[in-house]
Amino acid sequence: MNIAAQPVIEADQTVYLKDYQKPSFLVDSINLDIQLFEDHTNVDSTLVMKRQTAGDLVLLGRDLELKSIILNGQALTENEYQLDAEQLVIANAPDEVILNIAVQIHPETNTQLEGLYLAGEGLFVTQNEPEGFRKITFYPDRPDVLSEFTTRVEADKKYPVLLANGNLLEKGEAGEGRHYAIWQDPTKKPSYLFACVIGDLAVLKDSYVTSEGRQVALEIYAEEKDIPKCHIAMEALKHSMRWDEEHYGRPYDLDNYMIVATSAFNMGAMENKGLNIFNTSCVLADEEYTTDAAIMRVQSVIAHEYFHNWTGNRITCRDWFQLCLKEGLTVFRDQSFSEDLQSAAVQRIDDVAVLKAHQFPEDSGPLSHPPRPDHFVEINNFYTATVYEKGAEINRMMATLLGKEKFRQGTDEYFKRHDGQAVTVEDWVAALSAGSGVDLSEFLIWYNQPGTPKLEAKGEYDAAAQTYTLSLKQSLKAHPKYPNLKAVPIPVALALFDATTGEQLTLNADALVENGVKDGVYLFDTDSATIQFTGLKAQPVVSLLRNFSAPVDLVFNYSDEDLAFLLQYETNGFNQWQATQTLLERILLNGHDADIYIQAMKQTIPNVIQHDPLLASRLFDVPAEGYLGSRIDSDYSPVKVQEQRNALMSTLARELGSFCKETYLSLDPSAQKDFSQAMGVRALKNIMLSMMARQGDEAVFELAYQQYQSTGNMSERLGALRVLEWNDAPQAEAALTDFYMRFKDEALSMDQWFMLQAAHPKATAETIAYLTQHPDYDLGVPNRIRAVSGGLNANPVNTWSFGVQHFIGLAKYLDEKNPIVGSRLLQALSRWYTLAEPQRSEVKAELEALKPQVKSKNVSETLNSMLSV
Ligand code: TRP
Ligand code: ZN
Repeated sequence: MNIAAQPVIEADQTVYLKDYQKPSFLVDSINLDIQLFEDHTNVDSTLVMKRQTAGDLVLLGRDLELKSIILNGQALTENEYQLDAEQLVIANAPDEVILNIAVQIHPETNTQLEGLYLAGEGLFVTQNEPEGFRKITFYPDRPDVLSEFTTRVEADKKYPVLLANGNLLEKGEAGEGRHYAIWQDPTKKPSYLFACVIGDLAVLKDSYVTSEGRQVALEIYAEEKDIPKCHIAMEALKHSMRWDEEHYGRPYDLDNYMIVATSAFNMGAMENKGLNIFNTSCVLADEEYTTDAAIMRVQSVIAHEYFHNWTGNRITCRDWFQLCLKEGLTVFRDQSFSEDLQSAAVQRIDDVAVLKAHQFPEDSGPLSHPPRPDHFVEINNFYTATVYEKGAEINRMMATLLGKEKFRQGTDEYFKRHDGQAVTVEDWVAALSAGSGVDLSEFLIWYNQPGTPKLEAKGEYDAAAQTYTLSLKQSLKAHPKYPNLKAVPIPVALALFDATTGEQLTLNADALVENGVKDGVYLFDTDSATIQFTGLKAQPVVSLLRNFSAPVDLVFNYSDEDLAFLLQYETNGFNQWQATQTLLERILLNGHDADIYIQAMKQTIPNVIQHDPLLASRLFDVPAEGYLGSRIDSDYSPVKVQEQRNALMSTLARELGSFCKETYLSLDPSAQKDFSQAMGVRALKNIMLSMMARQGDEAVFELAYQQYQSTGNMSERLGALRVLEWNDAPQAEAALTDFYMRFKDEALSMDQWFMLQAAHPKATAETIAYLTQHPDYDLGVPNRIRAVSGGLNANPVNTWSFGVQHFIGLAKYLDEKNPIVGSRLLQALSRWYTLAEPQRSEVKAELEALKPQVKSKNVSETLNSMLSV
C-alpha cells in the first residue's frame, strides 16, 4: 500500500502548545538496518518500547511503503492497526512491546532534502530535524522520546563511506559488491538527531584531547578537491571544544566527532549527535574561494553546531514549541564565541544588524510570533529570526543582568538538573534563577509575546538642581492572536558623558542605589519609570542601550548633535555605530539635514581607521534599502527610498573628496597583524573603491581592474568585480568572464557570481531570466536559488516589481518539491501591505491567486499568515 497516494483531508491542522501530552510509549532502544539500492532503500527496524501512560501506541510516518509490522513476534494484519498519511496507530497494545517494522523508501527521488535523500552525485545524507525521521521509518518521532540507536548501513561499495552516529562497532562485506557498517550511539537521543551518510567522500582528520583526558578523533568529510578548504573549520572546531570547556565547563562526550559537507542542504548546518551535516557554505573556507564574511560565518556555525552538543542534544526540547530553548541559547553561545574571535564590538554590530534587518521586520509584520509560539501548522516555518536571534537576545539580557559569575552558576545548575532530559523554557529560566540566586521568572514574558517593544525615552536637565531626569516608557503593538501583552524586563545599559570634554562621567553613587542602576545597567520592567542623576554641573550627553542591551526599538530625544557627539566620543563601539545608524535613519526617512553626519564622519573616521580598521569599515554602513523599507508601515515607495539613499551616498562620496583615493592607496591588507584587521582593511578598501566610483572618477575602474587581477583573495576580487560590474565599467565584461572561467567548478564562488549580477543596481527581469536560465542555475540546490533571489532582493525596487513574479513562481515550483525553501522564499513578499497603491493591491491580487494553487502546509501556512493583515 502506498499511503502517499491517498488524499489527505484535514480540517484544522493547527497544533497547540496547551495540548501537549506525554507520549504513551517510550522507546528504550532502536535497531535500524538501512539497505540502500539504486532505485529504492529498505529500512528494517526493531523498537523496544515500554508504556509510560495510558493510550494508543502511535508511530508517525510519511511517504513510507509499509512492508510488514510484527508486534511481540506476531505479524499484524491490516485491521490490527490504523494507518493514514501521517501515522500508524495500534490500539490496546500491551505494556511491553517489541516491534519489527519493514518499510521501503525512495531517497533517490526525494527532492525535499528532508529525511534520507540523494544530495548529488554519489552522496546520500539525512536531515531529520524537526520531523524528517518519520520519512525514514515509523517511529514516535517527537523530541521527548529518547532512545539508544544502533544503526547498520549497507550499500554498494561504490559508496565507500558509511556513517551513522556514535561508535563504529563493525564493518564488513555484504556480498554482491556491497558492504556494511554498524554504528552504536551510547547516548540516548531523540530521533531528530539521528543521521547517516552514504557516499564517496574524502576526509580531513585531526584529534583533540578533552579537559577530562578523552581522546577525540575529529573528521571532516568533503569532496576530495574541497579538503584543503576544511582546515579553518577544523581549527574552529578545536577552538570551540576548548571554549565550551573554559566558559561553560562542558567537555565533549564521545570518542569521535564527524562533520559532513554537502551542497544540497536547506539550511546552514545540523547538529546530529557526533555526526554534524553541513551546508558546504558553512564549512568550506578558503580566502581564495570564499569571502571574509563567509569565513567568519563558517567559524560561527562550526561553533554553533558543536555547542548544541550540550544545549540541544544532551539537554533537548520537550516539544517543538520549545525550539528557542536550544536555538536561542546556542546562538547566544556562538555569538559570545565569535566576540572572542574578532573585535567584540564589531561582532555585536554584525549580530544586531542581522537582528534589525530580519527579526525586527518579521516581528512587525504578519509573520510575527513569540520566540516560543503557542501554535503552529508547520514547525519548519518557525526556524525564524525570532526564534534564533530574538531568542539569543533574551539569554543575553539575562546574562547581562547576572554578570559573568552568576550566569555561570545558573548554567551549571541547568546542566546539573537536566542532563539527559527533554525540557521547557520554564525549566531553563528556573534553573538559571536557582543557580544564580536571582529570580529571572519575569523574563518568561519575553518568550511568550510577539512584537518588538518600543522604548520611548526622554531626558531633561535641570541646571538649577543639577539633575538629569530620564523618563522611560514601554509599549507593544496589539496582536490579534496574542492579547494581554505585558511590560517586559528591559535591561538599559547607559552612560553619561561630559558634553565639553567627551569624557565618561561616573554615575552618582546615591543615584545608583536609589534607581537600581548597577554596573551601568538599569532594569526597567514596568510600563513607565524615571531615573534621576544628581550632581551634574552641566547638561550631559546620555548614551542609551549600550551594546544593544535589549532587543527594543529605542526612540530617544537625542539631538542630531548628541548623536554626532556619540559617534566621536562613545567608547562602546557598538553605540558609536548605532549613533551613525540613528542619524542616517533620520536623514533618510525623516528628512534631517545630512551635514551633521558628514562632518562627524570626517572628523572621526581618519582616527578610527588608524586604530581599528574593522570598526571603521562598519561606521561607513548605510542602512540597506530593504531595512529602510521595513521601517515604513504604509504608503511605502521603494523608488523614493532608493533615490534618498543614492543621493546621500553621492553627497558623502563628494564630501569625502580625495580622502577616498588617499585612503585606498594607503591601506595594505598584507601589512596587518591579524585576520580581523586585514579583513577590516579589505572592507575599507572596497568601500573606498565604490565611493570613488560614485565620485565619477573614471580612473577608479583601472584601480579596480588592477585589484581584481592582482589578488588571490576573494573579498578583494569580489569587491573589485562589484565596482566594475555595478558601474558598467568598460572592464566589467572581461572581469566577469574571467571570474567565471576561474571558478566555474567552485560552487560557492559561483554563488557569488550569480548573486553579484542579480544584485546589479540596474538589474532587470531580463537579467534574472538570463541567470535562472543559465546552465549552472540549479533549482535542486537551495544555495544557488538563494544566490539569485537574495541578489534580486538586495534591490527592493526590483523585489516589488518583477521580483513579485519571481518569488511567487518559486513558491509555486517548490511547493511540493522543496516546501521548506519555497515557504521561506515567499516571505520576501511579506511586507506587501505596506506598499503604496496601486502596487499594494496588485501584489495582494497575485498572492491571492497563488492561494488555491499551493498544497504544502509550509507554503500555505505562510501565505495565509501573509494575507491575514
Ligand atoms: N538545528 C539546526 C541548527 O540551527 C537547523 C535546522 C533545523 C536545520 N532544521 C533544519 C538545518 C533543516 C537543515 C535543514 O543548528
Ligand atoms: Zn541551532
